Amino acid sequence: MSEEVSKIEKKVTFEEIEKTMKRASISDIAETVEDPFCDERNPRIITFQDVCQAAFMIRGGVETTPCSRSHLSESCGMEIYLKKEFLQFTGSFKERGARNALLHLTPEQKKNGVVSASLGNHAQAIAYHGMKLNIPVTVVMPKEASIMKIQKCRNFKANVIVQGSDMAAAKKIAMELSRDKGMPYINGYDHPYIMAGQGTIGLEIVEQCEGADAVIVPVGGGGLIAGIATAIKTLSPNTKIIGVESNKCPSFSKALENGGPIYTKNHATLADGLAVPKVGVNAYATIVPLLDKMIVVKEEWIALAILRMVELEKCVVEGAGAAGLAAILAGHLDEYKGKKVVLLVCGGNIDTTAFGRCLERGMAAEGRLIRFSVTVSDRPGGISELCKLIYTYGVSIKDIYHERAFLKDVYSVEVKIVAETADWDTSQQLKKRLHEVYDHVVFNDVPMAIHKAEAL
Ligand SMILES: Cc1ncc(COP(=O)(O)O)c(C=O)c1O
Repeated sequence: MSEEVSKIEKKVTFEEIEKTMKRASISDIAETVEDPFCDERNPRIITFQDVCQAAFMIRGGVETTPCSRSHLSESCGMEIYLKKEFLQFTGSFKERGARNALLHLTPEQKKNGVVSASLGNHAQAIAYHGMKLNIPVTVVMPKEASIMKIQKCRNFKANVIVQGSDMAAAKKIAMELSRDKGMPYINGYDHPYIMAGQGTIGLEIVEQCEGADAVIVPVGGGGLIAGIATAIKTLSPNTKIIGVESNKCPSFSKALENGGPIYTKNHATLADGLAVPKVGVNAYATIVPLLDKMIVVKEEWIALAILRMVELEKCVVEGAGAAGLAAILAGHLDEYKGKKVVLLVCGGNIDTTAFGRCLERGMAAEGRLIRFSVTVSDRPGGISELCKLIYTYGVSIKDIYHERAFLKDVYSVEVKIVAETADWDTSQQLKKRLHEVYDHVVFNDVPMAIHKAEAL
């Protein structure tokens, strides 16, 4: 089949889609538009054979990514291997499932195109492979999706509709389009071909990292972990499968508590790729018998994990991609000390502003970015002496400002400082010295990294 990127003849035009959007406000859209591939009364459990078939279908169309030993092994006390799925062309593993699903369409469906809803990574993957395979793709992305991801989909020539406050709302819109335009809806985490495609990662892990004690997989809608577990538990039944999600979007843990997928309110999270309010019915039915442990990790650890990946691995990853490492740093996986653990580094699509914030948050969490105030004499040399003292500890001042108006003593000035230190010990030494020299010193922030036990 030719994979030349050519001009796509769109059977369903933008104008038609816009008409549909005008007719149906989000609240009008019937809850009952059903996805025949994701029926909660009849969940589909994928098989090892489905995964093998997917591997055959997508061979040559996606990257076989490396699974390399990590520099983090020593500091974490485990043999850590990183399965680097962020090295796929669109920056995430989602290409595997998307390509598999597109290749399974009938010739008629390939001409007419497909529709999907996604926060970004699945949208990019299906848009990119749609472009390569000459299949028209419409994606509905919720308003909370990152600007960078929306733009990338447009670059891949997809019909991009930014509508709906969250994934649930975007999905309703996409389902409506599917019904009205006769385009198959490709659920990004729950369609059986999607799960089977993601499962090909499991086949590669078993080959690249034989005898792994555990594989740690970030969980959103559940398709990734369901596919990977299906492959790994067949080929290496002793390898444990462990899921991780952020405490801001714990939909899978809530589903486990509930005994089935349930709508769970999501909050803004660094791991936006995991923010799926309700896990997939097929994914849930497939993974539950294969799952060994589920972890909910706090956001601060995700920020710290992003920072560690940059500093120690020279890898830029998004929050979802760092969730596995976050679980290790937080102490959730201490039982694997000395063992061989594979972390799925599943995505690298982090937008630049969010990335900067994550690095700063990570440093603050670790006690390397500190904020404090010191009241000093307002006579000449008062502030300069404070700065000199800070300098003797090799600490770099990032922000500084001073206030006089609210102090009782007119000959004093309160100096507020944000500073970067080499490590937590240096921060502690500086704090001790400041308390010795000055009467009024306030350090507000205690890094959570030293309260590892609290995370458990
Ligand atoms: C980078 C990344 N990691 C993990 C996931 C979770 O995958 P799933 O929704 O199949 O559980 C997603 C989902 O979009 C993702 O984008």
